Order: sequence, then structure tokens, then C-alpha cells
Amino acid sequence: MISLNIEKAFGFISKESVFAYEAQVKSAQEALESGTGKGSDFLGWLHLPSSITKEHLDDLKATAQTLRENCEVVVVAGIGGSYLGARAVIEALSNSFTWLQEKKSAPVILYAGHNIGEDYLYELGEYLKGKKFGVINISKSGTTTETALAFRLLREQCERQRGKETARKVIVAITDAKKGAARVTADKEGYKSFIIPDNVGGRFSVLTPVGLLPIAVAGFDIDKLVAGAVEMEKACGADVPFVQNPAALYAAARNELYKQGKKIEILVNFNPKLHYVSEWWKQLYGESEGKEHKGIFPASVDFTTDLHSMGQWIQEGERSIYETVISVEKPNHSLVVPSDSENLDGLNFLAGKHVDEVNKMAELGTQLAHVDGGVPNMRIVIPALDESCIGNLLYFFERACGISGYILGVNPFNQPGVEAYKKNMFALLDKPGYEEESKAIRARLNE
Ligand code: PA5
Repeated sequence: MISLNIEKAFGFISKESVFAYEAQVKSAQEALESGTGKGSDFLGWLHLPSSITKEHLDDLKATAQTLRENCEVVVVAGIGGSYLGARAVIEALSNSFTWLQEKKSAPVILYAGHNIGEDYLYELGEYLKGKKFGVINISKSGTTTETALAFRLLREQCERQRGKETARKVIVAITDAKKGAARVTADKEGYKSFIIPDNVGGRFSVLTPVGLLPIAVAGFDIDKLVAGAVEMEKACGADVPFVQNPAALYAAARNELYKQGKKIEILVNFNPKLHYVSEWWKQLYGESEGKEHKGIFPASVDFTTDLHSMGQWIQEGERSIYETVISVEKPNHSLVVPSDSENLDGLNFLAGKHVDEVNKMAELGTQLAHVDGGVPNMRIVIPALDESCIGNLLYFFERACGISGYILGVNPFNQPGVEAYKKNMFALLDKPGYEEESKAIRARLNE
């Protein structure tokens, strides 16, 4: 099971100041459990892991199997909460080079609908030419422009290449039960579809079909992933005492750090496979807490890569940051540094050591250097990159986010700020219904 260590934050904030959050955490937990806090219509994620049934998992696995049997490539179309969770888990668990190998045990998973890049979509279409591909179209609202645009292109190409009948078998929709264009299309075309529960917001939806179906298609064990989340649901529950509850401690420590002027949290990993876990985490915390002109800015770095770029800023820049390091205890493979008789690169002092030992010393050295440089440090230790630990991690972050948002005093479950750009974009694109906004925005542009 994953664990949290906040000892290296204590040089900057006191133990007492963190423990003083106990009462606030308690009332945040109570508000979550009783549904009496802000945004309580969106608490479906809270006990989601333990409420997932075997029948539901079997249905997802059967659909994943159909896609696996009929597709070389599956494109996941979605944006934000409708794609980041799946990508985070798939990239954390995948062999980094499988997609380049000729013989594959699972379809290649690609992503679309998370940008409006003409070149990206063109090149994706070119890559898919002649390939047996399928699409998982994910959109809770069913009307998100980025996703709908990509899906329009993908669906047309899939039907053209594979015929309407096969396309029907390899296109799956994950959307609202009743409303939205994605639902209308799925019902009309007879696509297999899964429902995103009304009470689960996008960034909390990784353990709904939004994440589980693509993860199963990629060949990972969703039973174990869910079991890992269930384990954390228990470990972070309202009945678990404050000092033993990782979500409570993390939420308390980050609020205290914020109060002490640490406005930026940098999520650090020392394993490139975790890059998208950080992207998922940034959305979770950024959209949940960044409102009412408040909230920690969630940033991320991949070490040691970024020690050669952002490392300077972190070591000596403005002291408004703290780091939360995700530390993977054990790699899944073993690789030892070979000895070299000439030793031209001077690396024989490492001969016989595991590559991960070098990485671990880089991690330890970085932690001490950054703490010495004035950067508080917390560590989340993951025994290994596997489904169970990733399930732990996902739920831990979700629970802590709910608690943390309530301590901050915001509604962690809405995202009113993401509408502003959409309104302007629709006005500029002359979307029907936006006539007044179009006139107003054009007048502003001509000012
Ligand atoms: O967290 C959220 O609610 C958002 O990031 C959404 O997931 C994102 O905007 C995609 O929305 P939809 O699933 O409606 O297409």
C-alpha cells in the first residue's frame, strides 16, 4: 500500500500547526460523508470504488475484449477528466516501447479530442489509414467541441475504412445516460455505451467507465486497480484517526504550507512513466481548488530530466514552492550498470549497481538539496508501479482533494471558470445562439 511521509516539511511548518487541522479535517470528512458541503451533488466518487460490482467490471471487460479482438489501434477521444485518468494509468503501467514493437499483445492506445491541432488530427488520420482501428468516445456533456470535432473525423474514417457494420462494433460511447450529442449518436447508431454517473465530475471519473474501459483495452487488470482504490477508500475514511489517515495529513499539510506562503505545489516523479499521473493530478487539484482567487497552483516536473532545466529555479528561485515527490520503491525490471575495461566515461564506480540505485541516490540527494534550499518536501511512497498501487494513489489524491478543498473553503466539485474561453470561442466562430456575443466580441477586437 502507498504511504505518505511529511517529515521533511516540518522544518518549514510545525507538527503542531499541521495537527491543528484535525478539527477542520473532521468537519470536511463529515461534510463529504453526509453530503452537506458545497457541491454535494458531485460526491459519487466518494464511495465509488467499494460500490463497483462484479457485473459492471465483467461488462467492461467483455467490451474491452471485443475492441482488443477487432482493433490494432483504439483511439480514446476525450479531454480533461474524460481522458487524463485513463492516460495516466495506461502510461504508468505500460512498457514504454511496446507501441513501437511489431507484435503487440494489446491494441495501441492513442488519444484525440484533447486539442484542436489540425496537424495532430491530420497526422492521426494518416497513421490510421489502412489500420483496423476503433474509437472510445468519452464526453459527459456530450457536447465538448474538441472531442466532438475529433470524433466526427474519426467516426467518418472508421466507417469509410471498416464499413458501417464493423464500425458499430468498434465504436463505444461513454457519456450521460440521457442528454448530449454523444448519447443521441450512440443510441441512433446502436453503439455499445456506458454511462458516466450524474454525480461524478470529470476529474473524479477515472474509476468509472471513463478510465476503466480504456485501461482494460490496454490490457491492465481493472479488478486489481479497483481493489487498490477500495483499500485506500478504507485507509482514508472518516473513521480513520487523523494521524493515521494519509489523505487527512496531506490535505492538512498542504493547507498549512499555503498559509505560510507556499503557493505552488510541484508534484515530482523520478520515473518517466508517471508523467501523466502528474497531468491528471494537476487537473484534479487545479480545477478543484483554483477559484475565488484562491488555491495552490499545481505544477509538475519529471526528474531527473527536469533537474537539468527547472532544477535551477527550484533550488534558488522565489521561495513560494514546495514539493510532493512520488517515489516508486521498486522497479519492475532489473538492469545493472556494466563494467568497462577502458572506463573512458569514468563510470566504473557505478559498475555492478542497479540503475535504480543511481536514481534513488539522485532522489535522495535532490530531496536534501531542495530542503537545504528552502523547499519543503513531502513524499508519497509507492511500493511498485502496478494496478493495485495506482488504484491506491488515485483514490488517495481524490479523497485528499475533497478534504483540502473544503478546508480552503471553496466548492471543490465545480469548475465555473472553464466556461469563459468557450463563450468567446463560440462567439468568434459564430455558433448559432451566440449572435449577441459575436457582435460584442468583434466590437472589442476592433477597439
Ligand atoms: O473535470 C471536468 O469536468 C472537465 O475537465 C471535463 O472532464 C472536460 O471538460 C470534458 O468534459 P466532457 O466530458 O463533458 O466532454
